[in-house]
Amino acid sequence: MYHTIGFIGTGSMGSAIAKAAAKSALAETILLSNRTPSKAAALAAELPGAAVSSNEEIARTAQLIFLGVKPQMMQLVLDPLEPILRKREDRFILVTMAAGLTCDRIQDMVDMDCPVIRIMPNTPSAIGAGVVQYCGQLVTVEELDAFAALLAPAGLVDPVPEGLIDAASAVSGCGPAFAYLFVEALADGGVACGLPRDKAVAYAAQMLEGSARMVLEGGQHSGALKDAVCSPGGTTIQGVRALERGGFRSAAMEAVIAAYEKTLKLR
Ligand SMILES: NC(=O)c1ccc[n+]([C@@H]2O[C@H](COP(=O)([O-])OP(=O)(O)OC[C@H]3O[C@@H](n4cnc5c(N)ncnc54)[C@H](OP(=O)(O)O)[C@@H]3O)[C@@H](O)[C@H]2O)c1
Repeated sequence: MYHTIGFIGTGSMGSAIAKAAAKSALAETILLSNRTPSKAAALAAELPGAAVSSNEEIARTAQLIFLGVKPQMMQLVLDPLEPILRKREDRFILVTMAAGLTCDRIQDMVDMDCPVIRIMPNTPSAIGAGVVQYCGQLVTVEELDAFAALLAPAGLVDPVPEGLIDAASAVSGCGPAFAYLFVEALADGGVACGLPRDKAVAYAAQMLEGSARMVLEGGQHSGALKDAVCSPGGTTIQGVRALERGGFRSAAMEAVIAAYEKTLKLR
């Protein structure tokens, strides 16, 4: 259904999604455009079927136009593209990944009631272990299904009502940064106890992946899984005590809520 897809902005997130789409056999041509063209060129060299392009060519030819620029840049990027989009007689869909910007807002920015898909991806999408929530406006069920199939190589691709996208963004869109912080902190603890840095990082990251898979695949509540690691009078419960004393759970909750509140301000 989507033979030509284009990415305007190939930074962290745009390139992660382009990498996922390139793994799908559904995209024949991938056009990449970036303000600093060398970034688009480096990505094009990595991806089969990808070529460097311009914002204008993408606006003129792509069926899916991924907008991978910062929310604050969106209007500036869309302004010169509006007349090009207006002239199109074929169907195209704008795909926004911008935190905080609603489908309505994107339509307002181009001053057109055009179809819009809004996604909330995260960077692990580049390696097939990501989360992408999506919703659409003026888009058919068939188009949304084909879109989900196109992005399937990103990882979990989940339809949500638009009203939940900002909350989802605070958990899985921003979450990798929180998880990296945790990996780093665990590794620092390991180093303090004498582990070489590379081993401490590898053990912490692998442990997190394994624990996450237990939650996703084991069907047990995370609290029960935690209890199973904590032997009475043992070592692990002492670590849990230290985390609770440091306000670990509260800090994690506050991190999500702070990110959510900032997202709302981007509107
Ligand atoms: N990072 C995440 O984990 C994440 C998660 C969910 C959603 N998002 C959303 O994804 C979007 C991109 O964020 P990001 O983190 O990927 O930012 P980023 O790394 O700064 O990427 C933005 C890209 O847009 C390019 N750009 C700026 N103006 C342009 C223009 N006029 N034409 C073409 N390209 C232009 C920039 O080019 P230069 O190379 O010249 O700077 C840069 O490569 C944002 O809307 C953000 O809300 C990000």
